[in-house]
Amino acid sequence: MKVLITGGAGQLGRAFYQRLRNKADVVACGKDQLDVTREAEVRARLAEEQPGLVIHCAALTDVDQCERDPEHAFRINSHGSFHVARSAAQAKADLISISSDYVFSAYSSTPYQPDSPPSPLSVYGASKWIGEQLTLQAHPRALIVRTAWLYGGHENDFIEKIVARTALQRTIPVVDDQIGSPTYVEDVVSYCLRLLASGQRGRVFHVTNKGSCSRYEMAKVIIESLQLEEAAIEPVKTVRQPGIAVRPPRTVLGLEQLPAVGLPEPAHWKPTLIHYLQERRQRR
Ligand SMILES: NC(=O)c1ccc[n+]([C@@H]2O[C@H](COP(=O)([O-])OP(=O)(O)OC[C@H]3O[C@@H](n4cnc5c(N)ncnc54)[C@H](OP(=O)(O)O)[C@@H]3O)[C@@H](O)[C@H]2O)c1
Repeated sequence: MKVLITGGAGQLGRAFYQRLRNKADVVACGKDQLDVTREAEVRARLAEEQPGLVIHCAALTDVDQCERDPEHAFRINSHGSFHVARSAAQAKADLISISSDYVFSAYSSTPYQPDSPPSPLSVYGASKWIGEQLTLQAHPRALIVRTAWLYGGHENDFIEKIVARTALQRTIPVVDDQIGSPTYVEDVVSYCLRLLASGQRGRVFHVTNKGSCSRYEMAKVIIESLQLEEAAIEPVKTVRQPGIAVRPPRTVLGLEQLPAVGLPEPAHWKPTLIHYLQERRQRR
């Protein structure tokens, strides 16, 4: 089967490419090869490639940039997703479209379920939420997969940011009032492919590692596991600033739907993160 990946140069797009490249005919398109804001280009490319599966990872993920330039954010995350969905439907391709925990407002103490009503706090969250709705309108059999706090495939992910800061600062302030589920990109790839293989279509799923923590707790695990203890992590509170997107204080996604469709429960965030960090140490 042919698989076309949008956002193929990004963190998740690259992880999908690496996983699938020896198993399928994979076309990973970076922004330069396929700009999802250009509908005619997207339609022509999908008509030419005739993929059996489209994995839509392209997005404007810089939440502060989205806040500063909402038009740009909606153009990519909402309209771009619509273009991909409509073109995939016209090409009769299956579609996995990736969305975000930021569609929720995050004032709930219990995990959000896939059918919980979204109420985003930021332009990024709103643009992803509209993108989801347009996707399902254009491609009713699409699989929407919401995930969160990705790491493991990016030179600029939270882990690498913390490591870079240890070289510059002895005390690193990290917020302890933003709660979420650190999620290994490889696990998202596995679950997306398993959901597709198990015949799920036309639904929203949540895929993160199990459990939750604050950014501060995550940073502590990073420092300890990478033995960078000469740097101290200091818990601080989120400061609201103009032009900076509001980060939802708590976005824990309910995962109960996965076992309900016959998939195993995802692994817990902490041992998964520690294992990844041990591997990272060995690689360097
Ligand atoms: N990272 C997270 O923690 C996280 C959490 C929840 C959900 N998600 C979702 O997961 C998906 C993948 O995210 P990621 O972490 O892989 O982000 P990423 O590394 O930023 O990858 C997104 C890619 O999309 C590209 N892109 C931007 N505008 C485009 C356009 N107009 N046409 C085509 N491609 C374009 C980006 O290129 P440039 O970099 O050159 O602009 C980038 O390579 C996104 O849907 C995101 O919303 C991510």
